[in-house]
Amino acid sequence: MELEQALKERRTVRKFTQEPLSDAILRALIDAARLASCARNDQRLRYVVVRSPEKVKALFPLTAWAGAVAPRRNPVPGVSAPTAFIAVLGKRSEAQTALLQADCGAAIQTLQLAAWGRGVGCCWMGAIDREAIHKLLDLPEELSVLYVVALGYMAERPVSEDVEDPAQVKYYLDDNDLLHVPKLSVDALVCWK
Ligand SMILES: Cc1cc2nc3c(=O)[nH]c(=O)nc-3n(C[C@H](O)[C@H](O)[C@H](O)COP(=O)(O)O)c2cc1C
Repeated sequence: MELEQALKERRTVRKFTQEPLSDAILRALIDAARLASCARNDQRLRYVVVRSPEKVKALFPLTAWAGAVAPRRNPVPGVSAPTAFIAVLGKRSEAQTALLQADCGAAIQTLQLAAWGRGVGCCWMGAIDREAIHKLLDLPEELSVLYVVALGYMAERPVSEDVEDPAQVKYYLDDNDLLHVPKLSVDALVCWK
């Protein structure tokens, strides 16, 4: 897939087929994420790939899905739920630093684009029970769960439309169950000097 097309078309997915993702695909996504820009090239992020059905099932209730499109985009286990998760980890002592958070942004967005190019949808998740996930994954005390990315083959293809007014950015489902994600236009965002 053309990069430009993926950049424009990638949307968060909250409805998945139940076909499992191979370890090779999940590995390819981490391979993309690890090459993203990061502060000082320190490469402080670590990853846990959760793909065993038991662990995925246990992790799912520790995530919260977009209230704005509930209940239709609350995935249903065994029907439309993600088939894997990738937990993004960093040192607990650095978890709230701007640089580590910025590293997460670059890595997760790169991972999402690599996934999109393979027909795999992602939902980057911040509304998660970090301590419960930490316990579930039996992680060392010094590491913290920064974010989780939910993954699976896409069972929806959300769309975006340009809008001019910041009051119009709320995403919504239309009568055909299509998710619309309004994005502010270039002109609404930029001032040229
Ligand atoms: C830092 C961050 C945290 C997010 N957390 C959640 C979340 O907990 N649950 C959820 O359903 N979506 C979450 N999202 C997805 C956003 O809702 C989504 O990116 C936004 O609606 C824009 O849609 P798009 O990704 O299709 O452009 C998160 C996104 C980011 C960047």
